[in-house]
Amino acid sequence: MLKNQIDKEKYSIPRHIAVVCDGNGRWARKKGLPRTLGHRAGTKPIENTIKECFELGVEVLTFYVFSSENWNRSNEEVAFLMKLFVEFFAKLRNEVGENINVRHIGSKNNLSKELLNEIKKTEKASENNSGLVLNIALNYGGRLEIVDAMQGMMQDINEGTLNADKIDEALISNYMYTAGLPDVDLIIRTSGEKRISNFLLWQSAEARLWFTNDFWPDFNHNHLIDAIKYYNKITIPSLH
Ligand code: IPE
Ligand code: MG
Repeated sequence: MLKNQIDKEKYSIPRHIAVVCDGNGRWARKKGLPRTLGHRAGTKPIENTIKECFELGVEVLTFYVFSSENWNRSNEEVAFLMKLFVEFFAKLRNEVGENINVRHIGSKNNLSKELLNEIKKTEKASENNSGLVLNIALNYGGRLEIVDAMQGMMQDINEGTLNADKIDEALISNYMYTAGLPDVDLIIRTSGEKRISNFLLWQSAEARLWFTNDFWPDFNHNHLIDAIKYYNKITIPSLH
């Protein structure tokens, strides 16, 4: 076996891995580059991690690429990111093949027509793929998602298709953007920040958290393997 590989006999693979891609700006600053180049460099480890997780048999992979709070950044940076997301979804569409099922999670409000169109085309092109569900959390906020779920439930109650007595945890899960998907097992966050930042609040109730000081553009195979090993260590201590 190669160094730092996962022995699938020994380790359990998390069903749902969620990643907070953080530190693109600091990565660029360290190199004397504009922040935007950090964002561009950050797309590569996203693509690599998708491939690796698919090969490992992860069922759901969620990337937090733009939070509902990120609109506070400079107009220039937001405009660059939105352009990058258009390119990213178009590229994904060519790379998903028959394996990856891409979904946008988050609010559609304030996203450009061009981006919404690109997202829709990629979702459509990959909707019958059953290998790995890839959620791109873009313009996403965890509390907002809960508000949306509450509104959906209230609407169904008002229309008479849902009885309030039937509300339980499983039913609430089915009103979330991640309806039908397993809860998050492992959250990975780069760049040394140890915060949740309004990410998948409902779905992460039992998630294990793994942090690295490295910046997102430097994230690679070894980080992923270390995170999965850590997940195993604290989930199934008898293994070690
Ligand atoms: C993460 O990197 C990318 C996005 C949120 C779009 P940051 O842009 O947060 O980089 P830092 O944290 O300023 O270094
Ligand atoms: Mg940041």
